[in-house]
Amino acid sequence: MAILVTGGAGYIGSHTVAALLERNEEVIVVDNLQQGHREAVLGGKLYEADLRDAEQMDKVFRENEIDAVIHFAANSLVGESMQNPAKYYHNNVYGTLCLLEKMNQYGVTKIVFSSTAATYGEPEQVPIMEDDRTRPTNAYGETKLAMENMIRWFDTAYGIKYVSLRYFNAAGAHHSGRIGEDHTPETHLIPLILQVALGQRSHISLFGDDYPTPDGTCSRDYIHVTDLADAHILAVHRLRQGGDSCVCNLGNGQGFSVKEVIEIARKVTGHPIPAVVEARRAGDPAALVASSARARAELGWNPQYGSLERMIETAWAWHQAHPRGYGGQ
Ligand code: UFG
Repeated sequence: MAILVTGGAGYIGSHTVAALLERNEEVIVVDNLQQGHREAVLGGKLYEADLRDAEQMDKVFRENEIDAVIHFAANSLVGESMQNPAKYYHNNVYGTLCLLEKMNQYGVTKIVFSSTAATYGEPEQVPIMEDDRTRPTNAYGETKLAMENMIRWFDTAYGIKYVSLRYFNAAGAHHSGRIGEDHTPETHLIPLILQVALGQRSHISLFGDDYPTPDGTCSRDYIHVTDLADAHILAVHRLRQGGDSCVCNLGNGQGFSVKEVIEIARKVTGHPIPAVVEARRAGDPAALVASSARARAELGWNPQYGSLERMIETAWAWHQAHPRGYGGQ
């Protein structure tokens, strides 16, 4: 039986495809390649297709014996989602509806869903627990929550079992150095810092140093992309063994401030990485740190790359080898 990975040419999707191939799983990738990179798909069968195109998706389900889906395909930029929520509702929410309808039509009853800490919004408490209030502060998080809820109702009505994984801040790159993080535009802290170390930008902008945190900068829970990939595979195992649907956070349970991240990157790269304090970025919560107790208990998940230094080292290896990302190869 094959696993369908939607968005398998993206950052986290491609690392999950690599991890599945390492475990000899049969992998089918669907990606419209708007954000994804063909070169990031290290194996399996790639369909350049959009979830909203029923004809293309019929072909995918007809030509393969799919028993489980890992669903990454989505737009994921918080800022863009505030400017253009229509794009996010169309691609993320309607795209997921189309996928679930096709799963129903072809009798596929297992889905692992790529969700986000952005479903919580401003947290009530830190570390964040899965049953805490979900009140997204941006359209991106709102669409991910709508997708989670849609999947839950498809479980109730049609028996589609799910594991929704709410990631905190994905970081790092594959140990082989062959795949890594390449977004256009890039908005994430660690790749932007490494662009400074590569001489591609003069400094890193530090968005606000007056937050109610120990050093005044925002605190985030960074998690290695390979550890995220492992959690998806464990989630598929759970569903294949007849396990119940569930929602799990994925993080390390430890926050690092923006200043701390820059300091560790200076150590890893040996570059001074100048930082310039600027205004706060709209919608940034002061601290987002996960409790991952449930993922450990329910999935048997045990992240291997807990050290932020190790995460930045793997990212640095990728960025040095691919200074212009995939396009520059
Ligand atoms: N930051 C800077 N300067 C930059 C870029 C980021 O200071 O140039 C700061 C941000 O203000 C934030 C922290 O670095 O405090 C991390 O920012 P990222 O953009 O790397 O990540 P976010 O925490 O904003 O976003 C991540 C995911 C989103 C998800 C969100 C909430 O990328 O998809 O977590 O879960 F929605």
